[in-house]
Amino acid sequence: MSTKYFLPDSDLFGKRFLAAGPAWGYALGGAPNPSEFNQGSRGRSLVKPVPVSIEMKAILTIEQLEELLSEPAKPVVESMRRLAGDIILLGVGGKIGPSLARMARRASDLAGVARRVIGVSRFSDSNEEDRLRAHGIETFRCDLLDEAAVARLPMVPNVIYLAGLKFGSTDQAAGTWAMNAYLPGVVCRKYRSSRIVAFSTGAVYGLTTVAGGGSRETDSPQPVGEYAMSCLGRERMFEYFSRAWNIPTVLIRLFYACELRYGVLVDLARKIVAGEPIDLAMGYFNIIWQGDNNAMTLLAFEQVTSPPFVINVTGPEILSVREVSETMGRLLGKRPLFRGTELETSCLGRASKAHKLFGLPRVSAGQLMEWVADWVKRGGENLGKPTHFEVRDGRY
Ligand SMILES: NC(=O)c1ccc[n+]([C@@H]2O[C@H](COP(=O)([O-])OP(=O)(O)OC[C@H]3O[C@@H](n4cnc5c(N)ncnc54)[C@H](OP(=O)(O)O)[C@@H]3O)[C@@H](O)[C@H]2O)c1
Repeated sequence: MSTKYFLPDSDLFGKRFLAAGPAWGYALGGAPNPSEFNQGSRGRSLVKPVPVSIEMKAILTIEQLEELLSEPAKPVVESMRRLAGDIILLGVGGKIGPSLARMARRASDLAGVARRVIGVSRFSDSNEEDRLRAHGIETFRCDLLDEAAVARLPMVPNVIYLAGLKFGSTDQAAGTWAMNAYLPGVVCRKYRSSRIVAFSTGAVYGLTTVAGGGSRETDSPQPVGEYAMSCLGRERMFEYFSRAWNIPTVLIRLFYACELRYGVLVDLARKIVAGEPIDLAMGYFNIIWQGDNNAMTLLAFEQVTSPPFVINVTGPEILSVREVSETMGRLLGKRPLFRGTELETSCLGRASKAHKLFGLPRVSAGQLMEWVADWVKRGGENLGKPTHFEVRDGRY
């Protein structure tokens, strides 16, 4: 493939380009050999594992995809062995929660740690609850905005906070603020004796110049629109309660998790196949394979502090919408159509702090493009949840 990417630290216009391909990373560690770890846990999976490898040229089935998304690398298994106590995931029923819960389950089993992994959601998709249970994850149905129901949730020492509202946030501004900025206070009150790893979003920074290589954790947030502003509210509430009650916390500013059923690459591939023009105004983006995001999230429990430890999570490449679309067009056998031109700013993050702490992602953007193009070409399942990454005015 001829597509090139550049690293945030590199000269934007050409000195240190990074070729596509599966050469990146493995710093997060290879897959563990199950015989190296004790088996056994409180919530055993009833699902037979399917054989997979991160080096596969194509992912052919949902079972293979879910196996890869939840495969814990060795450092994750070791970290889950060091971590004391059960884990609860609040808002488990969305795009990230299921594979993250499964990785926590698998890593704990491989580490020989008897641990409950508990998923909480309303389970708008009730099949998701069944799937989680089959994988040894306990579930609780709960509307987190119902404080009496939150009071009944089990007390556990480790909380992963995923709940949020993005799409429809412009039309439901009050509900968006309740979910994104009020709920963290409810959760901190309940889990004031726990560690909390909470998802935030790169959207809190606002747009940044492409030449600058992406927003850093030390940049001051400039959120645009109700969603991004309410997410900064979420961060501020976690920070307030972390300081007030000494709650060890991590805030993860995530820039676009991607797998084969959703993500920026899926959005681009589907537009190419449908012959829809791709808007170039938001000309650059970062992504991370969701399996790598899952690994970094679990590793983040070792970084919790009060006040919160803030960290960007995404891949090392800044990707050009035009170049990625052209590459994917070649893989899909169809020329992409474009509209407009690249502007100077995009929503971009620099995640070198995460890469130093947790290692580089195991899956490169190049490999992910090949997987996504192949999946979309074969008509693989799609979640029907476009990212709307092209939105520049913060209205979702
Ligand atoms: N995915 C990404 O690329 C990305 C990028 C940046 C930031 N993030 C952040 O990371 C977090 C997780 O991402 P995600 O993509 O998994 O989000 P998601 O798909 O929106 O999942 C969050 C889940 O939380 C549950 N939830 C919402 N309101 C709830 C309530 N009142 N009570 C109980 N559960 C509730 C929903 O499941 P039920 O309907 O079953 O309740 C929802 O599916 C989000 O907060 C988002 O802001 C994600």
